[in-house]
Amino acid sequence: MSNPKQLSVQALQWNGHSLSVLDQRLLPEKIAYDDYRDADGVTEAIASMRVRGAPAIGIAAAYGVLLSAMQHYPSDNWQTAVENDIKQLAASRPTAVNLFWALDKMRRQLNQNSADPIADLTKLAQQIHADDIAANHAMGEYGADILGKAKAVLTHCNAGALATGGYGTALGVIRSAHKRGHLQNVYADETRPWLQGARLTVWELAQDGIPATLIADAAAAWLMKSGKIDWIVVGADRITANGDVANKIGTYSLAVLARQHGVKVMVAAPYSTFDFSLASGDSIEIEERNPKELLADCYLQNGSLVTAWNPVFDVTPAEFISAIVTERGVVIDPGKHGVGSLQTC
Ligand code: MRU
Repeated sequence: MSNPKQLSVQALQWNGHSLSVLDQRLLPEKIAYDDYRDADGVTEAIASMRVRGAPAIGIAAAYGVLLSAMQHYPSDNWQTAVENDIKQLAASRPTAVNLFWALDKMRRQLNQNSADPIADLTKLAQQIHADDIAANHAMGEYGADILGKAKAVLTHCNAGALATGGYGTALGVIRSAHKRGHLQNVYADETRPWLQGARLTVWELAQDGIPATLIADAAAAWLMKSGKIDWIVVGADRITANGDVANKIGTYSLAVLARQHGVKVMVAAPYSTFDFSLASGDSIEIEERNPKELLADCYLQNGSLVTAWNPVFDVTPAEFISAIVTERGVVIDPGKHGVGSLQTC
């Protein structure tokens, strides 16, 4: 019998000696996995966005540390070599805190001076992976409870199985709500410039037989005005102590529009996405990617009068969010209540 938690689409697969990474840059035209055997490769896979999405980045980095340990142990100073690889992995992308959370966990295990470090690091990396899938299933149920009889939602970017260990955060909620039979349609923003919605989300939903309707990002206000959606459901890359949420660029615009149109905003994210060390979203480092992702080639020469600014995340203030859903429970109106109740769990 198939495992109900086994997913049709897997971004990452641990093979015992290598990490298989689905190259998400090629989807939906091509399904191709690359095998990585060292931390250099995993760093490159994250930086180049072969693997992307906050929880998936964290899981990949955990396996990257494991691969580093497998490469260097038991040579002299192997722990120093692994620490250097951890630093390199940490520099791959700045905004998703799950990366630093996973690296911290692996580093703590590394410093335990265990009798069998490879076995212990393997166990931990696999635990991080499995825990993320379990968290997504729990969030799916909590989020579906909140959606109730909502008939249609809008999602942004890709916060699905592709962005996580499996099942997804926002798409986990959508999967669970769809199974309950009420949710009839999922609108997906294209999510420029990288097109996570157009290339990944609608593909992933279709794999699971969930109807999806793609819209241009600029159509979101009109969609809300039409009364076709009850909720916006998104994931997160970092949530600060006051409940501010960093997520894919465009999330803030959606939240502002949602307020104008009486649409509610749900953020689904595992506990690994919380950064209680930051008081508010003002302190989150927002990644800016290469202007090449936006500009036509003719504008890329030195001295061009046309340049581009390409921040790939933004911060939605807590007051614009109706519910934050985690595996530890739900915070309704985080702008009023904060998210501190989760920290003490
Ligand atoms: O640049 P990306 O594709 O890594 O950005 C991904 C997002 O913004 C997701 O919404 C977020 O990581 C949550 S994924 C569960």
